[in-house]
Amino acid sequence: MAADALFRPFSYKSLHLKNRIVMAPMTRSFSPHGVPPPEVATYYRRRAEGEVGLILSEGTAVARPSAKNDPNVPDFHGEQALAGWKRVIDEVHAAGGRMGPQLWHVGSASNPLTKWVAPPPIDSPSGLSSPGERFTEPMTDSAIADSIAAFGKAAADARRLGFDVAEIHGAHGYLIDQFFWAGTNERTDVYGGATLGERTRFAADVVKAMRAAAGEDFVIILRLSQWKQQDYSVKLAQTPKELEAWLTPLVDAGVDIFHCSQRRFWEPEFEGSDLNFAGWAKKLTGRPTITVGSVGLSGEFLSTLMKGEGSKPASLDNLLRRLEREEFDLVAVGRALITDAQWARKVREGREAELADFDREALSTLV
Ligand SMILES: Cc1cc2nc3c(=O)[nH]c(=O)nc-3n(C[C@H](O)[C@H](O)[C@H](O)COP(=O)(O)O)c2cc1C
Repeated sequence: MAADALFRPFSYKSLHLKNRIVMAPMTRSFSPHGVPPPEVATYYRRRAEGEVGLILSEGTAVARPSAKNDPNVPDFHGEQALAGWKRVIDEVHAAGGRMGPQLWHVGSASNPLTKWVAPPPIDSPSGLSSPGERFTEPMTDSAIADSIAAFGKAAADARRLGFDVAEIHGAHGYLIDQFFWAGTNERTDVYGGATLGERTRFAADVVKAMRAAAGEDFVIILRLSQWKQQDYSVKLAQTPKELEAWLTPLVDAGVDIFHCSQRRFWEPEFEGSDLNFAGWAKKLTGRPTITVGSVGLSGEFLSTLMKGEGSKPASLDNLLRRLEREEFDLVAVGRALITDAQWARKVREGREAELADFDREALSTLV
C-alpha cells in the first residue's frame, strides 16, 4: 500500500509540518550532569535530515530536585542545559525539522536500570510508588505549586529557545499520571477525588501554567496512557464516557494535541469498536491526536527493553488504512527511528526492504 497518507502536510495553530511522522520521545541518557552535549544535537539533526515531520525529545527534567531518576537524563532548566537545547533546536531547524521538548517529572517512579537516587523531596501525590507501596510523604501544597510552576517556566523557555511545541509527559505512571491514577492518588484535597475527572486537576493546572507562560498560539501536546509501567493491565478509563470525563477538563485547560500512548497501536480501546486510544480521543474531543506503539515493527517496546526480544520490520498497511480514514492525525515512531535515522525517507521512497530489525543493542550508542 502506498504510504501517501503519511506524507500529507499537517497544520494546527502555529505548527506546520511537512508530514505526519513524529519521532516518539525516547530517553537516551547521553547527557552527563543533565547537559545535552553536541552529540545529542547531531542525533536529532539526523532525524530531521531523514524527513521526520516533528521530533519530540527524550523526556527532559523540569526544575524540581527529583524530576528525574537517572543523572544522564537531560535537564530543561539551568543555563548550561538550556544552551545545549538551544544548539539542538537550531540544528534541527537548519535541517528543516520541527521539534519540541518532552517535559518530564518522574514523580515516585523508580528506575530499574540505575541505583542513582534523586535528592529529596521525592514528589508524588500520596507518597506511593505503586498502589499500597508507600515510601515517602505526600506532596505538600508548596511542592505542588512549585512543580506546576516548573512546567510553566519550562514552556516559557521552550518558546524562548525557538522550539515549535512542548509536550507534557502525562503517561506511563510518572508524576502527572500518578495524580490521574486512583491507585497512587489518595488525596482528599482538590488534587484528589473519587472520579478521574477530579484527579485531572494537577495536569490541568500544569497545562494552564504552560499556556499562560508560552501564549495562545504555542502548541501544547499532552501524552497520556491507560497503562502504567507499574501495571500494564490498568485502564484509567473503562468506557468512552469515562475517557470523555478524563479528557474534557484537559481540553478546557488548553491542550492542543493528545498523544495517546499504546504499546500496540492496532489494539481497540473499548469493546464494540476497532477505534484505538488516539481514535477515541479524537472522536471525543475534536482535537488532533497522535498514535504510537509498534509502528513498523513486529514486537512491542517493553518486551524489547526488558527481555531483549528483537523486533522485525512489519507492514504499515493497517496503520495507513486508519490514517487514511482520519482515525488520528499523526503517527509517532519510536525504536524504528533509533535504528535508522532515514526511516521516514525510506518509507516515502518505497524502500521498505532496506529497513532493519530493532535490537536492544542499538541503545548503547547515539548515532
Ligand atoms: C529506549 C526508549 C526510551 C523511551 N523513553 C521514553 C520517554 O522518555 N518518554 C516517553 O513518553 N516514552 C518513552 N518511551 C516510549 C516511546 O516513546 C514509545 O511510546 C514506545 O517506544 C513505543 O513506540 P515504538 O513501538 O515505535 O518503539 C521510550 C521507549 C524506548 C524504546
